[in-house]
Amino acid sequence: MTTDEFRLRAASFGGVADVYERTRPGYPDDAVRWLTGDRPVRVLDLGAGTGKLTRSLVAAGHDVVAVDPSEPMLARLRTVLPGVDARAGSAERLPLDDATVDVVTAGQAYHWFEPATALPEIARVLRPGGRLGLVWNLRDDSVGWVDELWSMFGDHESRRVDDPQVVPPFGPIERQTFRHEQRLDRDGLLGLVASRSYVAVLAAPERDAVIARVGALYDRVASPDGVVLPYLTHCFRSTRD
Ligand SMILES: C[S@@+](CC[C@H](N)C(=O)[O-])C[C@H]1O[C@@H](n2cnc3c(N)ncnc32)[C@H](O)[C@@H]1O
Repeated sequence: MTTDEFRLRAASFGGVADVYERTRPGYPDDAVRWLTGDRPVRVLDLGAGTGKLTRSLVAAGHDVVAVDPSEPMLARLRTVLPGVDARAGSAERLPLDDATVDVVTAGQAYHWFEPATALPEIARVLRPGGRLGLVWNLRDDSVGWVDELWSMFGDHESRRVDDPQVVPPFGPIERQTFRHEQRLDRDGLLGLVASRSYVAVLAAPERDAVIARVGALYDRVASPDGVVLPYLTHCFRSTRD
């Protein structure tokens, strides 16, 4: 991907905020607990989007501040979670004071950050001994039709999550994987595909062609209750010195 394509795709979420909120999966509670610990703390949810991870953090009792550069995504988050402090900002320039949070989380977002700038910023706002927690839902390709679905997108979607690279003051990365699933009807599956960043930036005729292929697949494999998409939720955590 060129730098221009990367920037275009990183900024594409605002155009699909509603469909993102309707169709993207949340995160399993055991994964959230593994990332943040058992007791309520102050958490920065970075790249919070419409608040898919934020709502699990709130439900776990944490005091959460949400940050995202996309105003349309934040607008959805504020509707869903009116009590949450939601601020415009980016990983490279955080609107928070030094050493004011215990955990920084990023759900499906860390790959959009510029690590050379973002990691020192995250270290700045974390208290000593605080934690960085990163999480990605990745489809479980061991189910035949799921493999077929994502194969339609060639190599746009990575089929693995490599351990993120962190540098001091962050300590070694620990990794854990959890199972998760999402039930979707036809509109839900089409919307899920439409909200992928590489589909969102396509010209209308190409986007319509992708959506039509996904619709035909749904009609072939769905039961009257829809489809169940299995995920593997890959989690990473690292403690700041
Ligand atoms: C795939 S969405 C994930 C949203 C949410 N965390 C979730 O789990 O559904 C990625 C989010 O990262 C945000 N983002 C993109 N570049 C960013 C950056 N440099 N710093 C912080 N957030 C960024 C986008 O605006 C988008 O809301």
